Amino acid sequence: MHALLLSALLGLVTAPHAMVVTEQRLASQAGLDVLKAGGNAVDAAVAVGYALAVVDPCCGNVGGGGFMLIRMHDGRERFIDFREKAPLRATRDMYLDAAGNVVPGRSVRGWLAIGVPGTVMGLDRALTEYGTMPRAQVMRSAIALARDGFVLDEGDLLPFKGAPAQGYTVDSVFGAPNVRSIWMPDGELPHAGERIVQANLAHTLELVAKDGDDAFYRGPIARAVVDASNAHGGLLSMQDFADYTVDESAPLQCGYHGLTILSAPPPSSGGVTLCQIMNIIAPYPFAQWGWHSVRETHYLVEAERRAYADRNAYLGDPAFVHDPIAQLLDPAYAAQLRAQIAPQRATPSTQVKPGLNISVHENGETTHYSIVDSAGNAVGVTYTINNWFGAGVIAGDTGFFLNDEMDDFTSKPGVPNMFGLVQGAFNDIQPGKRPLSSMAPTMVLRDGKLAMVTGSPGGSRIITIALETILNVFDFGMNAQAAVDAPRIHMQWLPDRVDYEPNALSAAALDTLRSDGYTFDEVPFWGSAQAIVIDPATGMLQGGTDRRRPAGAALGY
Ligand code: DON
Repeated sequence: MHALLLSALLGLVTAPHAMVVTEQRLASQAGLDVLKAGGNAVDAAVAVGYALAVVDPCCGNVGGGGFMLIRMHDGRERFIDFREKAPLRATRDMYLDAAGNVVPGRSVRGWLAIGVPGTVMGLDRALTEYGTMPRAQVMRSAIALARDGFVLDEGDLLPFKGAPAQGYTVDSVFGAPNVRSIWMPDGELPHAGERIVQANLAHTLELVAKDGDDAFYRGPIARAVVDASNAHGGLLSMQDFADYTVDESAPLQCGYHGLTILSAPPPSSGGVTLCQIMNIIAPYPFAQWGWHSVRETHYLVEAERRAYADRNAYLGDPAFVHDPIAQLLDPAYAAQLRAQIAPQRATPSTQVKPGLNISVHENGETTHYSIVDSAGNAVGVTYTINNWFGAGVIAGDTGFFLNDEMDDFTSKPGVPNMFGLVQGAFNDIQPGKRPLSSMAPTMVLRDGKLAMVTGSPGGSRIITIALETILNVFDFGMNAQAAVDAPRIHMQWLPDRVDYEPNALSAAALDTLRSDGYTFDEVPFWGSAQAIVIDPATGMLQGGTDRRRPAGAALGY
């Protein structure tokens, strides 16, 4: 811990007025430029959203979807849901073979894996309702980065190293001529110092800058995606694009130790599960027990185990199912779950069932960014194409990767998806339905004032990353950089196993916890939290960019 805290103190970025934290430095710069030109945090968020689609192609996107959490300085709070939807021709059993077994890979790679993208409409909605600048202005940096190219740093290469770990061949993603010509023009994976020019993507972005949703959902871009989908046996239709909608609601809200937590409501499980875990752990004196001590780890893991069991059974797209949020977040229910936790003994997950009485490796392709402007407006965005370069396909000359978000649905009840989540019927596939997400752009308020903005990629681990990043700041007194850097632990009910990053637990703690019945798996690293913390004493903004994805930057002024 000491080395960690020292590095965080040395590396901590602070600024008095505004801060942009993303996992790619050129995207952070695009956001900062907009703020300095007089734009607000939402203008900057839209600029960053498009810039990441160019310079962070694994994760930033126009071919995926996500969530934007907005808190304006006047107290308006909004959650914009631009999650992908299942195509109208999707069916519940579309990933099963004739014998009823899940066909490996079908929901993950290729044209059947794609949900109708929401990013362009989501960013446009945010800009129209909460921004101040014209679309063409906030997209200018992204278009220039695509047209003129940008030079890859060593840190930018990380996403391209994902293939072997995920068991996919390079050819399965970069093999098609329209992909190869962008990312492997000389037949090699990208290398540091190489300039990446994306003329097709620049053209796509120019169409969007000019005509917005008309271009993407009713015009040439939809046409190109549907034509390619038809040619490759996919399900997408022009009707899917024409019918696509963005949804808006109040953020999900709960309390923890006197703080107010704002996070993602369904169709994300992020906020509900985060809040459910917080409800269970609230009475335990974690600060006194110590960060990742045996006791703190035990009660944290047991709370996570129970909340994830409920997540997988009871949450789905609220347009299709009734999410029992009030019951899941009822303090009496938290007390009931707390009472089931045995002191000093792991509860086997086989003995933990979804508790309500209701019938019913990571190298992913998600990214989070956080922005606070000089007026105190705050934005957190998590958006994704899901897996390694999404479905691994680009339509024609559009220049952007399409998502494989369909894998977030339940392909078959009881069969784990790529994140090992064993889910149920609430999250089954239906035409026009949004798959359940774990993405959790989250803000923390203290005495009604903004205290933190955070979020991360990491699939099912997104929720526990948000949780630990918040606990690190408010229970354990870490600054923004230390909070995102601190090694993590994670439990999600099934598999019945605690994942931990190197140095997350001492050897002695591991020994004791093993004898208490826990099984552990050391995982090299996961997630990429991008956080802003406001120092209550000075009002200074602290930017913490996750060193796990080394291309990032916290930039402020
Ligand atoms: O929405 C979700 O929960 C997932 N599609 C997120 C995927 C992800 O974070 C992969 N990246 N690490």
